[in-house]
Amino acid sequence: MTKNIPQEHFLKDYQSPQYEIKSVYLTFYLSPNKTQVINHMVVEAKGGKAPLLLDGDKSLTLVSIKENNQLLLKEDYELNSESLTLFPKSNQFELEIVTEVDPESNTYLEGLYRTNGNYCTQCEAEGFRRITYYMDRPDVLSSFTTKIVADKAESKVLLSNGNLIESGDLPNNQHYAVWEDPYKKPCYLFALVAGNLEVVEDTFVTQENREVALKIYVEARNLDKCEHAMQSLKKSMQWDEERFGLAYDLDVYMIVAVDDFNMGAMENKGLNVFNSKYVLAKPESATDHDFEGIESVIGHEYFHNWTGNRITCRDWFQLTLKEGLTVFRDQEFTADMLSPDVKRIEDVKRLRNNQFPEDAGPMAHPIQPQSYIEMNNFYTMTVYEKGAEVVRLYHTLLGEKGFQQGMKRYIECFDGQAVTIQDFRQAMAEANDVNLNQMHHWYIQPGTPHLKVTKTYNPITKCLALKFSQFLNGKQVHLPLLIPVLFGFMDEEGTALPIKPSISTKNKVTQTEKGMLLKVTQLNDTFEFMGLETEPYLSLLRHFSAPVSLDYKATEEELMVLASHDSDSFVRWESIQKLAMLNLKENVIRFENSEPFLILDSYLNAFKAVLEDNEIDLALKSLAMALPDVIYFSEQYEEVNMDAILASHNFLKKAIAEFFEESLLETYQALEASEKPKYRYHKEDIANRMLKNRCLNYLLQLPKHFDIGVAQYQNHHNMTDVLAALEAMNHLARVERAQCLEDFYQRWQSDNLVIDKWFALQASAQSDQALEDVKKLTKHPDFTYHTPNRLRSLLGVFGRLNFAGFHDKTGEGYQFLAEEVLKVDKLNPQVAARLASLFSQWQRLAEPRKTLMYKAIEHIASAEDLSKDVFEIVSKTLK
Ligand code: PHE
Ligand code: ZN
Repeated sequence: MTKNIPQEHFLKDYQSPQYEIKSVYLTFYLSPNKTQVINHMVVEAKGGKAPLLLDGDKSLTLVSIKENNQLLLKEDYELNSESLTLFPKSNQFELEIVTEVDPESNTYLEGLYRTNGNYCTQCEAEGFRRITYYMDRPDVLSSFTTKIVADKAESKVLLSNGNLIESGDLPNNQHYAVWEDPYKKPCYLFALVAGNLEVVEDTFVTQENREVALKIYVEARNLDKCEHAMQSLKKSMQWDEERFGLAYDLDVYMIVAVDDFNMGAMENKGLNVFNSKYVLAKPESATDHDFEGIESVIGHEYFHNWTGNRITCRDWFQLTLKEGLTVFRDQEFTADMLSPDVKRIEDVKRLRNNQFPEDAGPMAHPIQPQSYIEMNNFYTMTVYEKGAEVVRLYHTLLGEKGFQQGMKRYIECFDGQAVTIQDFRQAMAEANDVNLNQMHHWYIQPGTPHLKVTKTYNPITKCLALKFSQFLNGKQVHLPLLIPVLFGFMDEEGTALPIKPSISTKNKVTQTEKGMLLKVTQLNDTFEFMGLETEPYLSLLRHFSAPVSLDYKATEEELMVLASHDSDSFVRWESIQKLAMLNLKENVIRFENSEPFLILDSYLNAFKAVLEDNEIDLALKSLAMALPDVIYFSEQYEEVNMDAILASHNFLKKAIAEFFEESLLETYQALEASEKPKYRYHKEDIANRMLKNRCLNYLLQLPKHFDIGVAQYQNHHNMTDVLAALEAMNHLARVERAQCLEDFYQRWQSDNLVIDKWFALQASAQSDQALEDVKKLTKHPDFTYHTPNRLRSLLGVFGRLNFAGFHDKTGEGYQFLAEEVLKVDKLNPQVAARLASLFSQWQRLAEPRKTLMYKAIEHIASAEDLSKDVFEIVSKTLK
């Protein structure tokens, strides 16, 4: 909490540490309200005699400090709420610092805390300083040994990083365990877990013939929900060996699932701690989407063992070094496990819905931020998802083989070190003998680049000129980006045309394993192609080869041909989405002019072609049939008229349902009849359910089909179909909806993850009642301010997805959320800051919403004792 303006940290101020911590031996005497931590370190000065600054936190109680066994007196050190400064007498010495912490009262869920009676830690980014005084920075690597002492009845299981080297009983019903991690690590990768947990076990034999014990620890009631997580772990280990040649390096890999967790999961060395949402699943209680999320997060944390743990970050400004790379790896993993084309489209949607708005708003930052007030605020879609897109650029430029050579070199050069994004780029460049310096521009400039394309065709010379112009933040002057564009040409029938670059263009165009690639390297870059008998249609940015917004005004005819004939499934999907967008935008204009809405023939025909296509993969079909999401739709406007956008979106959805009613019904019934009774997590079954539920969703736009939703809710026992039925019914305030919701609640009352879905359903209902319902739900006995998942499912979903309720014209939705942010901030600043960022789009809203939202943010900003986390978000938002 802060009275004064909190301190800002800058990348340019980086200095390497003056001390080395050779080893650290931690002893924990666990007790709910008073845990004692003895931190014994062997320290060595690197250069001259500088004071030793150890990070701390106001939540620590300092008990004693000994330097080489000599008790220090108050005058020997300087202590404040954030640090402890010592003045060592020699260059090599031992330090023993004793502190006390209170896990039970730790509602921040950072440092050592309790969740459902069990102890657990979260140290990334700067949580270790809430456990003991330490050099809490990722470039200080040390050997950790951890001894845990606890009550036997209260904490049957005692876990930490590395290998168990000793354990036994102690007097007074106590016991202990000693863990030793053979790999040096920064303290953010430290973990401790203790409590009454049960374990599910398996083994994996690595390519180096190491037998690894795999253990998933959960509360007893969840033992039946671990199988998918275990399979996912084994697949991850196998895949990383096959695709990256990387094998696991300890004899045990442990995963612990906890209900109270700020993020998705954490890659602590040998002891991952997971939000239970990303571990627990059985077909009755988890959807296909949940199963996929588990597979990818288990993969993500596992892949961190090399990209993050063995090679870590020099400082937190390098976060995208480990996160961008590891997200890229988990995306590739999911693509290989399921369908690469579907995965690519889903990732692009995710980027556009979540990262593009961030990059266009007040919190925009480069994937390498240049400064921060609270590091936790920079675990963003930009650092993660755009960071992964930038790693993908290397992959597209170098190909799989070149990329893997770069990875090999990266690991050979930097294993065991804390490094920078430049080190990564250098490894990629050297291994492929190319210059990649221009890639740096992607790391240091915020904003989504716009790539404008102008085409000139000369029917006499048969020559085509394509001019690409880059814009960033609306400006054409910036450091030029290297933008790889996968592309193709096509005639009116949809036949591919030959690509013959002119002499001056030849060296800028290459044939790659993903297809023809041109490299835009300048702010204005022109490419010439010869021997084109007719003016070609352009297929651009195949596979979404760069995270840009492409500004090319294709004609409706061109889009229709691309939508049904392009060889690239991303471009096919994109083209039909563009047709839908044209239609949606046309109706926004009509709304503003009080003219009747219409449905464009081009979109209608493209939709019909997809719906009747019997060759196409069912998941791709379902994606093509979906309208652009409301968030991405509103991203198209400098000034957002929420009423027009919602009316246009609702109209088109209903119009499609009316127009294709028969065909949608037929498709629905056929898929429903062919669905296998036993749930399988398998790409064909997933695609089947996806398309079926897309049809259902359209059909329930027509009230007469409401019964189909009710029937599906009653007849199915897998959560994918059950939830899809509830979602389809959710926009109409019919008694059947209420009855199904009530039944759902009764059935699942004891399962937290399912009850989160129950809250989220009501929070996202687009009705006039929604705001009142959500307010009431904050008083529901199952609502708690202490569990981040619950806060996200009610408040987060309301602010992000309830366009009608949150953006209520009176401003009450904004006021409500502002009050909630202030309540949450007292308990959990990290989660409060995430909720506060839901106000970031105020400047683009049309009046009256703009002013109303501004007032809500001001209300938060004017509160006393704001956390650093919320302070940073609201102060930047108001700027
Ligand atoms: N490092 C974690 C991941 O991406 C995310 C995380 C950050 C978790 C901070 C907790 C706290 O896998
Ligand atoms: Zn990560």
